[in-house]
Amino acid sequence: MSKIFVDACFGKKTPYTPVWMMRQAGRYLSEYMEVRKKAGNFLNLCHAPELAAEVTLQPVDILGVDAAILFSDILVVPNEMGMKLDFLVGEGPVFEKPIKSEDDLNALIGGVEAADRLTYVYETIKILREKLDARGDNKALIGFTGAPWTLATYMIEGEGTKTYNVCKKMMYSNPQLLHKILKKVTEVVKLYLEKQIQSGIDVVQIFDSWASAIEPCKYDEFSWKYMVEIAEYLKAKYPHIPIIMFPKGISTFIQEDRVYGNFDVFGVDWSTSMEMAKEKLGKKYVLQGNMEPCRLYSKELTTSAVEAIQKTMQDGRHIFNLGHGILPDVPRENAQHFINECHRVSKNS
Ligand code: CP3
Repeated sequence: MSKIFVDACFGKKTPYTPVWMMRQAGRYLSEYMEVRKKAGNFLNLCHAPELAAEVTLQPVDILGVDAAILFSDILVVPNEMGMKLDFLVGEGPVFEKPIKSEDDLNALIGGVEAADRLTYVYETIKILREKLDARGDNKALIGFTGAPWTLATYMIEGEGTKTYNVCKKMMYSNPQLLHKILKKVTEVVKLYLEKQIQSGIDVVQIFDSWASAIEPCKYDEFSWKYMVEIAEYLKAKYPHIPIIMFPKGISTFIQEDRVYGNFDVFGVDWSTSMEMAKEKLGKKYVLQGNMEPCRLYSKELTTSAVEAIQKTMQDGRHIFNLGHGILPDVPRENAQHFINECHRVSKNS
């Protein structure tokens, strides 16, 4: 039996529009907090396949989303390239020694050797594949990676940033080094996703969460072309695996009709209007998104947004999602309401 989520990614007709939420396994669920406590901390949880598989399935069991997303983090990739990583409570991720020079980059592990070190991710996927197949409910499993640019921002800055001044200084004063970093990360990511596919995922999503930090005329050069290269590599070998691109905050790039590439679904962020995305991209790609995640604080405003999105996307070629990740203090019944509403409005139309 085919999976409704995979069918929707390929633009096939489905009985209703499937829905999932970015960051759906996380702190707004008390069940997640309990398992994280058992693991000790977030990174330990990523490294413990049985527990990571357990939290991956929580939103499927609790909320009834149509796809599970592998529980891990985009930063395990630079971590296994040899960059020591910590998640500080209340502060987020920190790399001990950010990349400052070509020597720093050359000291990192690349290619298949780095991809091979992510065994705990492949192990988690294998457990999930078995569990999902045994249940027979045809929920899809999404694997993912960060886009090379988004990963590079952490590798160069050493932590989250509001200004991106260290990477941008490199972009404008030493673009050759930035490209070398992006190339090395791209090579690892291609093999990493290939191994995720071989371990049993159904769909790939590439998160370019910090796309909007790049000025529109430089976006293709420093991010999009590397994402497209990754998609091209996977599509040549695994055409049956849908690919979702999620570049956050690039409505100018979309407006100028510069979105190209061999992938299936375009993730529309909350700051981009769905009407505009549909007009510019809707024929070429299935669209995913794009409710403003803070609407989840109000059930009423969730309903009105879901109805508006459904009205725009009533012809189909759509997957419901938030326009970025769910926040930790959202009441779970409001998240449940969002999922129910997406199913309700798309079944009725
Ligand atoms: O449910 C899912 O979506 C799957 C799991 C997932 C996590 N991170 C778990 C996580 C996914 C897909 C990610 C991707 C990720 N990680 C991105 C891209 C997606 C996005 O939101 O734009 C980015 C930029 C990161 C890096 C990252 N990880 C940051 C900046 C932080 C700290 C901020 C925060 O929310 O606390 C993390 C930690 C993180 N990743 C948590 C979770 C559940 C919170 C850790 C915890 O305290 O339990």
